[in-house]
Amino acid sequence: MKPFEITRIGLEDWPKCGAIWNMAAFPYTEKFREQIRAGNREVYILTVDGTYIAECDLVKDNPEYGTVPGRRLYLSRLIVRRDCRGQGYGRALTAHLLDLALERGYREIALGVDKENAPALGLYRSLGFAVYEEAEDQDGEFYRMEKKLRE
Ligand SMILES: CC(C)(COP(=O)(O)OP(=O)(O)OC[C@H]1O[C@@H](n2cnc3c(N)ncnc32)[C@H](O)[C@@H]1OP(=O)(O)O)[C@@H](O)C(=O)NCCC(=O)NCCS
Repeated sequence: MKPFEITRIGLEDWPKCGAIWNMAAFPYTEKFREQIRAGNREVYILTVDGTYIAECDLVKDNPEYGTVPGRRLYLSRLIVRRDCRGQGYGRALTAHLLDLALERGYREIALGVDKENAPALGLYRSLGFAVYEEAEDQDGEFYRMEKKLRE
């Protein structure tokens, strides 16, 4: 893993995440864009020498994601550029956002992950997330996981 920076970006820079994932092919790009515009989705990126390597978002104040203002956040859209996976960047970015959530006084953070997604499940489990529910939507079967940040 090379030295990296983690920063929050706004809507104006979000299209640069096209260097990480295919924004045109992803079904929820427009929905996410609206959430960023509305202020319910904070986008964080990990860069190495200014190059976009990974994205992860924090969703707040949006009942669709089960968030509770000031108490429960939702972690979304964690993705590492394909050729940079397995080097610790995903863990570093997620751990940073967990620290941030704790600093901001949140008590819980939740997420959803496909049942078949072994790398993501391994990462989330090792960071202290546990499955609290099994669910299914148009994208298939998935686990809802959560982590208690404080009592
Ligand atoms: C899931 C993802 C974000 C992990 O990022 P990464 O930078 O590759 O992961 P890291 O190198 O930081 O590894 C962290 C942990 O993830 C798990 N992991 C990563 N790659 C794995 C693999 N191929 N198989 C099993 N576990 C794996 C391990 O627990 C690993 O910890 P370890 O190195 O101590 O064993 C990345 O694989 C990715 O972008 N996948 C596609 C998008 C996605 O599925 N996002 C999650 C949506 S819920």
